[in-house]
Amino acid sequence: MKKTIRNLEISGKKVIIRCDFNVPIKDGKIIDDNRIKMSLETIKYAVDKGAKVILMSHLGRVKEEKDLKKNDLSLVGKRLANLLNKKITFVSKTRGTELEQAINKMINGDVLLVQNTRYEDLFMEKESSNDQELSSYWASLGDLFVNDAFGTIHRAHASNVGIASKLPNCIGFLVEKEFNSLSILNNPSKPFILILGGSKVSDKIGIIDNMIEKVDKIIIGGGMAFTFLKAKGLNIGTSIVDLDSIEYCSNLISKYPDKIILPIDFNFSTGMDETLPNRIDKIDNILDNEMGLDIGPETIKLFKENLGNAKTVLWNGPMGVYEIEKYSIGTRKILELLVLLDITCILGGGDIVAAASKFNLKDSVTHASTGGGATLEYLEGKKLPGLEIIGDLN
Ligand code: 3PG
Repeated sequence: MKKTIRNLEISGKKVIIRCDFNVPIKDGKIIDDNRIKMSLETIKYAVDKGAKVILMSHLGRVKEEKDLKKNDLSLVGKRLANLLNKKITFVSKTRGTELEQAINKMINGDVLLVQNTRYEDLFMEKESSNDQELSSYWASLGDLFVNDAFGTIHRAHASNVGIASKLPNCIGFLVEKEFNSLSILNNPSKPFILILGGSKVSDKIGIIDNMIEKVDKIIIGGGMAFTFLKAKGLNIGTSIVDLDSIEYCSNLISKYPDKIILPIDFNFSTGMDETLPNRIDKIDNILDNEMGLDIGPETIKLFKENLGNAKTVLWNGPMGVYEIEKYSIGTRKILELLVLLDITCILGGGDIVAAASKFNLKDSVTHASTGGGATLEYLEGKKLPGLEIIGDLN
């Protein structure tokens, strides 16, 4: 078991908390602040204990000068200050005198947010490559390190693995909660059903390989269903297909014919543009110029029948283009069923959690993970560097 923030004496200490404030931003506005909200418990705890709280996070990817402005973390600082109802000192630099002086001025209970750690990626990718000089510098700013950035736990960056290797460390409440919830899947009540969606099979091969023997069924929707259907020899029109994965799908269907549940009808259109006409029909009736953009009503019925007696459901990836109202029905109807069932339902991965949020169903499931890639890598059974580096509780 890893040390948690409860196990360290933090009062009066300079505590660096690595959060994952990598939130979606559109037209200069945060469009989903879930990750910020989920970080509050640890931050409030540290404030209440009288720590000097130094927050760090990356935002987006910084490759060129033009990426700096759009990934400025000050926007997050403002939202966080509102949510905490507390003044936050934002330092617009990732190192230097301004940052050091601001930290020196902190009194117990103060909160300071450092600029986007990936500003250090601009030259030499120092953050993303876990540069030792950088992590030593950041570690020198604090006394203790808390990793509460679950969404980044699969990365070995200077601001998580690097600092953790140089300071007494622990995990925060969010990381603890995520692992407690996801670990239910190691010993799930049966039947255990995996629902997979999203566009590409190749992104999901790791999770299928790791879960196939553990689950009773895999329900497949979203764009990735078409690669399976093509592997079965069906016409899929212009629907998205992952040609490199056809052989994989074909082998999977032959090996597990009763475990893989595929859609039978779809909501078709000739393009993704929502103004184009759409129609519902069986996959056998798809026209050569059509693509499937959501599962159809017969498929929803079929999936519901298969989910009816489930005790545990893990869901990664939406059933259709849920961002467009008329193609959101499959994802919404299946979610609506799951929240009514008396089951453990875990949503893993950014898109399905965003969809559940959009339909106001996120808080009705057992757990909606804040991780995208991190959750996938956990479900693939991979080691997570941000967690590995944290000390165990003796
Ligand atoms: C995420 O959103 O998955 C994490 O914040 C990690 O971001 P990254 O994929 O840019 O490393």
